[in-house]
Amino acid sequence: MKVNGQHHRAITGDPATGEVRYIDQTRLPHEFAIKTARNMPELAEAIRAMAVRGAPLIGVTAAFGIALALGEDASDAALDSARSTLLATRPTAVNLAWALKRICEYSQRFPEAERAAAAWAEAQRIADEDVAINHAIGRHTLPLIQELAEGKHGAPVNILTHCNAGWIATVDWGTALSGLYQAHDANIRIHVWVDETRPRKQGLLTAWELRQHGVPHTVIADNAGGHLMQHGRVDMVIVGADRVTGQGDVCNKIGTYLKALAAYDNRVPFYAAVPSPTIDLSIGDALREIEIEERSADELRHVRGLDSSGRPTSIQILPDVSPAANPGFDVTPARLVTGIITEKGIAAPRELARLLQV
Ligand code: MRU
Repeated sequence: MKVNGQHHRAITGDPATGEVRYIDQTRLPHEFAIKTARNMPELAEAIRAMAVRGAPLIGVTAAFGIALALGEDASDAALDSARSTLLATRPTAVNLAWALKRICEYSQRFPEAERAAAAWAEAQRIADEDVAINHAIGRHTLPLIQELAEGKHGAPVNILTHCNAGWIATVDWGTALSGLYQAHDANIRIHVWVDETRPRKQGLLTAWELRQHGVPHTVIADNAGGHLMQHGRVDMVIVGADRVTGQGDVCNKIGTYLKALAAYDNRVPFYAAVPSPTIDLSIGDALREIEIEERSADELRHVRGLDSSGRPTSIQILPDVSPAANPGFDVTPARLVTGIITEKGIAAPRELARLLQV
């Protein structure tokens, strides 16, 4: 997608220079900066610190991390160690484990002298596939928005989204936002309600993206969605996901469950847009089996932004003496989900496993 008129992917890798370049999301929305990683630990830290974030992008970043590690040492021991380091960065998004399994198994088919080149090629394939998958998710989302638009008689379709499941959470296009971009490009009138998404405020990234693309939107406090739904001001909710079970339970950014409850109570359709690497068929009981990342309480204690002179700054809003807890994700049960939009089409939660077998 474009930033100031220039096309960017959220991450790119260059085997010739041994460099991986990524958008540093900790500096958005106030500053657009691209960072360069030259070794695996730098990429592991980028994932941990959420300079790259979003389930699909985390997976692709880890794949490039393996390519960088094998460039230094292509032994089995080095591969295992790099895989463990990257896997330990964040627990909830299954794309991380998925991408690591794929690239490690692929690289191990080659003799040590060829492993780094093989890994770079595979990381690039994973990145390119992510772009194609997300574009297809958007194609399947478009008719849903088109249908809602027909009932609106020229008024915009109001779509609520939570967190950031846009192009910077992926390599390009995004998952939940892909269809919104494609609807906007097809001249369908839409307006997006953007949850701010406390405490890391990924909603501000969504607002930044939508502004770059010229999509009308309004940022709302996290807890405003239910009120808007009660007043008929939301036509559809669409979110991304970090892990979806074969039964259609959706694990996504904390607060998603509350939006789904409000949507259900107000008969607002609730969709999750999900690339197939985000679907984890090994999970039976989502509530018990998916590890929910517990992030630092500092994310609740401090707020980052610009001071009155426009300089980046951080202020403390919660004293150290107040205990705080910071679970990063929650699970929305399948019964609250209208449909799961994948690159293969849309399925009701109970039909998801069948759709994937197509
Ligand atoms: O903690 P984050 O910012 O990595 O969480 C991201 C989300 O929860 C996204 O909604 C999800 O990964 C889907 S990204 C296409």
